[in-house]
Amino acid sequence: MTDINQKLDPPPYKIKVVEPIKKTTRKERKRLLEEAGYNFFNIAAENIYIDLLTDSGTSAMSDYQWAGLMLGDESYAQCKNFFNLQSVVQDITGYKFVIPTHQGRSAENLICYALNLDDTKVTVSNQFFDTTRANIEISGAKAYDFVIPEAFQPSLIHNFKGNLNTGALEDYIQNEGDVSLIVVTVTNNAGGGQPVSLANIIEVSRIAKMNKIPFFLDAARFAENAYFIKLREKEYQNNSPKEIASMMFSNSDGCMVSAKKDGLVNIGGFIALNDEQIYRRIKERMTVIEGFPTYGGLAGRDLEAIARGLTEVIREDYLEYRHQQLEYLGKGLEKGGVPFIKPVGGHSINLDVKSFLPNIPQSEFPAWALTIALYEYYGIRAAELGSVAFARKQDDGKWIFPELEQVRLAIPRRVYSQEHLNYVIDSVLDLYKHRADITGMKIVYDPGVLRHFTARFSPLG
Ligand code: F0G
Repeated sequence: MTDINQKLDPPPYKIKVVEPIKKTTRKERKRLLEEAGYNFFNIAAENIYIDLLTDSGTSAMSDYQWAGLMLGDESYAQCKNFFNLQSVVQDITGYKFVIPTHQGRSAENLICYALNLDDTKVTVSNQFFDTTRANIEISGAKAYDFVIPEAFQPSLIHNFKGNLNTGALEDYIQNEGDVSLIVVTVTNNAGGGQPVSLANIIEVSRIAKMNKIPFFLDAARFAENAYFIKLREKEYQNNSPKEIASMMFSNSDGCMVSAKKDGLVNIGGFIALNDEQIYRRIKERMTVIEGFPTYGGLAGRDLEAIARGLTEVIREDYLEYRHQQLEYLGKGLEKGGVPFIKPVGGHSINLDVKSFLPNIPQSEFPAWALTIALYEYYGIRAAELGSVAFARKQDDGKWIFPELEQVRLAIPRRVYSQEHLNYVIDSVLDLYKHRADITGMKIVYDPGVLRHFTARFSPLG
């Protein structure tokens, strides 16, 4: 069994409600995989033993949040839960205007509209999350990623691998032209949940102000980012995570947030900002696509759950335990020499598949093959962030493969115990020992756009 002498204090909460999970046999899972066309999105969740597909919308809510659901005011306009949410968001972010949305991607869509993005516009980020990029690209605008180059060196230890390359940003503005929006994603999900330093946010803010460019945070994981700043940026070691979060927000013009992550809820999101003109534009569009601006596509009770989740996520004892869980998982994998993106991220461990399975070429989807093996042998579901999700076909028919081939083990918040993590560690170590048995995959049905959700595969060899 896993050596559990590593430090993992008991969680700062106890269990009041449980949800049974089911073990299946390898034989059953082989059949389920075959029926699912070797696509883990097609496997019924009840047949997953440990689900690490995402940390989004998968949090366990507290008794305080569940109690808040009973206080849902379902009035169409100006319900009291909106005011509760507004005051919590104002308290943490310092922004004047707060607009709930049904999740993060609708917040992104509204921002693109409000900023009049079109095919003459360029936007820049450390790394856009897929849905943010998709929303920008359907508006016609370009979306460029300017993350620091260290982000692409999996084994390199760097405190803030999510930082935006501010030199490249300044060069771009000077030599190429206008930028209409800067988004800093905290933490950087696409790069393994790596944090962005406050120094970097402040420098981006300076550049944005000088060039009059709106600067927004994609703040889905703002609390995890704030905690990394506390741990790794000396100047802020005596500040509370909440104070640090406030500083992150006060150095940007606004934020778009999927509350499904650090909101500790199963659905919801919001936008917060200071600019009244942009706020008005958002409200115009809002009423057409999301609902009246005080409910944003959510029930009053959902707004209450977010308001309460935000007050819990920013607590230092919660963040310390959350961080320790990820560190514990990382140390366990490290002991067996499993290659993953270093250092450990805020919400996930991303396996470095080019090193894990060096003999499988990207054209045979090694990261996908790894997720299938994790399910077949151990009942664990993870997410592929590799050549199935990110390879692109050029006009000349040639495939361009992503620089990093990753499998993400995302840890839902307040859901799994140390025993579950031990099981994950033992499973991945065992798989790593038997990695020579893993073969590549072939796509037998390719839907084209966002193919990872619906493609079908067969194993090679
Ligand atoms: N921004 C970031 C950084 C995200 O990670 C996500 C979602 C979104 C925006 C979109 O938010 O799902 O509420 O519409 N990430 C999920 C994930 C899907 O699994 O990483 P949403």
